[in-house]
Amino acid sequence: MTQDELKRATGIAAADYIRPHLDDKSIIGVGTGSTANCFIDALAEHKNLFDGAVASSEASAQRLRDHGIPVYDLNNVSNLDFYIDGADEINKHLEMIKGGGAALTREKIVAAVAREFICIADETKLVGRLGAFPLPVEVIPMARSYVARELVKLGGDPVYREGVITDNGNCILDVHNLFIASAIELESKINQITGVVTNGLFALRPADVLLLGTQNGVQTIK
Ligand code: A5P
Repeated sequence: MTQDELKRATGIAAADYIRPHLDDKSIIGVGTGSTANCFIDALAEHKNLFDGAVASSEASAQRLRDHGIPVYDLNNVSNLDFYIDGADEINKHLEMIKGGGAALTREKIVAAVAREFICIADETKLVGRLGAFPLPVEVIPMARSYVARELVKLGGDPVYREGVITDNGNCILDVHNLFIASAIELESKINQITGVVTNGLFALRPADVLLLGTQNGVQTIK
């Protein structure tokens, strides 16, 4: 199977995973990226089974609406059983690097609210140690140079993602060459730099379940 076929298989597996738990009041947290898009397309096949969705980006909100799925403001939602999203890297502790699509902050917010975070990924995303994928950091624009200098002190090589403005009006620094011994510690440390909105480590709130698309089928890892 190609990587795209593996992504499609995990999207379908995620829809199958949540389907038995849905009712006409269910609102589903939906992530961002090509794998999350596969999930949205699979979810649309079952739109009679749930009420609507909360999206972690304008792009995903638009895709949901294009399928006729109502999109809610998270502030009007008190109960979110599931958040389903992809990852750029994930390890066996289900800690992740996310934000390749620049949606990390909203992804982290929706993940924080959801009772169960289901990560959907093809097998290329499973790594022994996080950090080969440059760590995205969302930054308030006027703090960009200061934050970059602080990230250098942590041993990283930050690169400004030119031309990208997040849905929140901020910019992204991609931090290369970080040695991530403890994802939890580094996530906290970077978030304490003034001017950082958040960073793409998801270790303080890791995934609860990984649906991993492999050549031998979709594996469920908890
Ligand atoms: C979006 O900001 C990211 O966190 C995505 O979840 C991540 O980049 C995975 O994207 P793909 O599914 O497109 O690889």
